[in-house]
Amino acid sequence: MIIDGKKIAEELRDKIKSDIKKLPDNNKPGLTVILIGEHPASQIYVRNKEKFANEVGIKSIVLRFDESISEENLKNEIKKLNNDSNVHGILVQLPLPKHINQKDIIQTIDPIKDVDGFHPINVGNLSSGNDAMVPCTPLGCYYLIKKVIPNLSGLNAVVIGRSNINGKPMTQLLLKENCTVTIVHSKTRNIEEICKNADLIIAAVGKAQMVKSNWVKSSAVIIDVGINRIEIDGKNKIVGDVDFDNIYGKVKSISPVPGGVGPMTIACLLENTLKAFNKISKKI
Ligand code: GUN
Repeated sequence: MIIDGKKIAEELRDKIKSDIKKLPDNNKPGLTVILIGEHPASQIYVRNKEKFANEVGIKSIVLRFDESISEENLKNEIKKLNNDSNVHGILVQLPLPKHINQKDIIQTIDPIKDVDGFHPINVGNLSSGNDAMVPCTPLGCYYLIKKVIPNLSGLNAVVIGRSNINGKPMTQLLLKENCTVTIVHSKTRNIEEICKNADLIIAAVGKAQMVKSNWVKSSAVIIDVGINRIEIDGKNKIVGDVDFDNIYGKVKSISPVPGGVGPMTIACLLENTLKAFNKISKKI
């Protein structure tokens, strides 16, 4: 079975849209995205975030800055947004230019408005099992997995990749569901053997078609986070971290690229923005 991320994301957006519709016109969630420089993939991501935010009724603003902005000025812009009562979610699109310290920028964002879930307060809350803002991509993967396997208790899950954006928070979400989680990465020996024992594989490494059909068992569920541009027969194609064409008939379920995790990431950003709005509204 192919997991239809596009459809599941649409259902989630519809739910968010109907929740926002019930709010008074003068009090709707607001999301501000900061985009620095001309990074081509970031331009596309940000355009999509803005489009879908507006579609569900979130007031979305994109602040664009030149590549040369100083760290000091960027921090001041974030502080202004922290204090702006019309802004409930703040997202600084990554990657940042080399002269800007990413860690310091993330820590400048008010944790309650940190819709990316990258601030150490949110990272700590997630790993402690407290209420937290959860990073959008692993949260989207989690929703896809739960659609296919509602009870994950005791399953062997393998997370490929150990990034702060995906691998680590994904692991926390699966641990909370009582999975036995193995994280594999570039220095892991026998990745193939470890995957052969997995009930669930989440591939988030950024290596085109790395997971092969002889790595997986027939009852496995596979979630593909990768977005890799490759050239096949002189044509550019986007593929995931999983060798989809040779695997999809052999496993229980698999998410495609595109149309799997991608749409879920954006829907979860909208959900996090509504969550931030609700948290802030409760505090006031
Ligand atoms: N760049 C690529 N993915 C992401 C993401 O999830 N959040 C942000 N802020 N930047 C990104």
